[in-house]
Amino acid sequence: MKKTFYITTPIYYANDKPHIGHAYTTVLADVINRYQKLFGHECFFLTGTDEHGQKVQQAAKKRNISEKQHVDEYHQRFKDMWQLLGIQYDHFIRTTDKEHIQFVQNALQELYEKDQIYSQNYQGWYSVGEERFFAEDELVDGKDPISGRTVEWLEEKNYFFKMSIYQDKLIEHIQKNPDFILPEFRKNEVLGFLKKPLQDLCISRPKSRLKWGIALPFDDKFVTYVWFDALLNYQSGVYNRSFKNGEKIWPADYHILGKDILTTHCVYWPTMLMGMERELPRHFLAHGWWLMQDKKMSKTDGNVVNPLDYIQKYGADKVRYFLMREMTIGQDASFTDELFVSRTNTDLANDLGNAINRVNKFVHAHFDGVLPAPTSASDNQVLIQAAQHCIGETEQEIRNMKLSVAIKSVIVLIRAVNKFIDNNAPWKILQMIKSNPDCDPKHKEKLADILYCAAEALRLALSLLYPVIPQKSLQGLSMLGIGKAPDISDIAWGILAGGESLQKGEGLFPRIEVNKSKKQLKNSRPGELDPIARLDFRVVEIENVENHPDADGLYVLVINDGEHKRTVCAGLKNSYTADELRNKKAVLFSNLKPARLRGIVSNGMLLAADMPEEKAQLIDPGSIPTGSQLQFGQIDVVAKKNASLKDFQKISLLVKDEKIYYNKNLLHFQNTPVKATAPDGAGVH
Ligand code: MSP
Repeated sequence: MKKTFYITTPIYYANDKPHIGHAYTTVLADVINRYQKLFGHECFFLTGTDEHGQKVQQAAKKRNISEKQHVDEYHQRFKDMWQLLGIQYDHFIRTTDKEHIQFVQNALQELYEKDQIYSQNYQGWYSVGEERFFAEDELVDGKDPISGRTVEWLEEKNYFFKMSIYQDKLIEHIQKNPDFILPEFRKNEVLGFLKKPLQDLCISRPKSRLKWGIALPFDDKFVTYVWFDALLNYQSGVYNRSFKNGEKIWPADYHILGKDILTTHCVYWPTMLMGMERELPRHFLAHGWWLMQDKKMSKTDGNVVNPLDYIQKYGADKVRYFLMREMTIGQDASFTDELFVSRTNTDLANDLGNAINRVNKFVHAHFDGVLPAPTSASDNQVLIQAAQHCIGETEQEIRNMKLSVAIKSVIVLIRAVNKFIDNNAPWKILQMIKSNPDCDPKHKEKLADILYCAAEALRLALSLLYPVIPQKSLQGLSMLGIGKAPDISDIAWGILAGGESLQKGEGLFPRIEVNKSKKQLKNSRPGELDPIARLDFRVVEIENVENHPDADGLYVLVINDGEHKRTVCAGLKNSYTADELRNKKAVLFSNLKPARLRGIVSNGMLLAADMPEEKAQLIDPGSIPTGSQLQFGQIDVVAKKNASLKDFQKISLLVKDEKIYYNKNLLHFQNTPVKATAPDGAGVH
């Protein structure tokens, strides 16, 4: 069997910030990749950003900055989001990378020399919005049929790739390789498209119209069409790399993509490769769209879900789980708050979290936290069989790329464990043993077996869910006495031996109480909620610093809070020069009621540790991404819109071991502590 695996995501336009649709594609690729690793393959996972073309040129122009500045900033948003979502890519490619540009120019030159590219004068109706020409009969009411915008008649020279000559070869390849394009109905869609004569592909744009692109090596008055440039990333991102065993990485095993970019991937890309006589990728997997109110989520329609909101509120693993479980690959799915809450509450809190807590708590209460060894498994064939069935089914469904079905089969196993515990009622057996210490030793054996089998089935379930919920899976495994990430050898029955110490754990997946948090916000009475929960602390970046025109001690800062820019007046002149503050990251008390300070409205307050000589040292959030909401210990933030300075003065924040505490609660973001290089006991204000 082949031991290596290469998977890609589309490269995302660097003119947008990542929304849940982008997050879905990337999590999907990550989960598939992690399953391959779990099953013992050596893997390579490529993602990145698409940084040339009209969209980026326009976005940069709108912001009045250079294209390079724009993409340098925007590609980082994707990297930050992937870090938050636990995406383990091997390489992040940017199409503005020098190596990629060179690779694209070499490919163009090669095709040109092989007589695969020719130039021609072209006339047609051009739509600026869609960046392409339309034929007269494609127009709707004389307008662009896709965006509905006006079109203009253009006549210009361009370069064309002889795509049409590969039409028959491509049809034959698709027919001979029925799983080249998945799911099957997408394959049929592509074959349908190929019934019409295939046109040659215009691969250039005159520089007079578009400057931001890769110059054609044989005519520098033109730049390369952005899709021709972008598709080549799948090869350029790996061409000078190899797997550890020395094997080359290309061809890709799976290109993951949304159905919106089916033709560019399944028609343009294979024909480009045929033109260069290179190997074709093995599979394309096209998924559906996340919808909001029955419409595709997209920036243009303004109906996007920001993954950050969900990650901050519920943690990355719940987001990953929901995305993978809720969407059948290929179909569309709706994203709603209600579905998110009910799906994660049912599967993760009620089923998985509950089962692990039951076993862990019982073993702690009655066996000093040490898992009993099995003695005779004869009574428990039910669970062993359910586990074996689950292994077979998940492996098969993952191979067929039916991830939601695979996950469901693990949930079925977990439900069987809960039922098994209910049916066998270990607490009753325990009571009987306690009330009659001389009872038949078989009862003790049975009790041990019940706990062992439940723990073993849950260990297996957590191992099979590791690619989907990596952090929580490890946490759950430690509650079952396992201290390492699972590998192929763990996908079997009988790995726990008994005798393992089970680590105590807080509820693995606390239920999301839908109405409670809303109620708390509305009718909170003093004393009901920890006062710190009302304060919203966020990681921000200082973008600009000026002197306050009317107050000697104050700076006026422009601060990026991850969503917006805001003005904050800060009394930091004694501690920092303006240059030292520029581009510095900091922590902002962000829901402080805005206040006018000598004529300038200040929106929030930066946190700083008290230092000698009345100096202040800004709190350093390190690598925690801008926009992240911080938390003290396990206290969930239920911030109201405006908190007062009095609310802040009621609480006391202190530095200890270079970390910040509220009572015993550490300030952190997803377990990464916020740093304060101030002496122990320093206050934070
Ligand atoms: N830059 C091109 C791809 C070039 S690949 C050589 C592009 N970028 S994109 O930023 O628009 O993102 C494309 C991908 O994001 C889609 O193919 C899809 O995988 C994902 N999604 C964007 N919106 C989506 C939804 N509403 N739902 C699900 N995924 C969607 O196209």
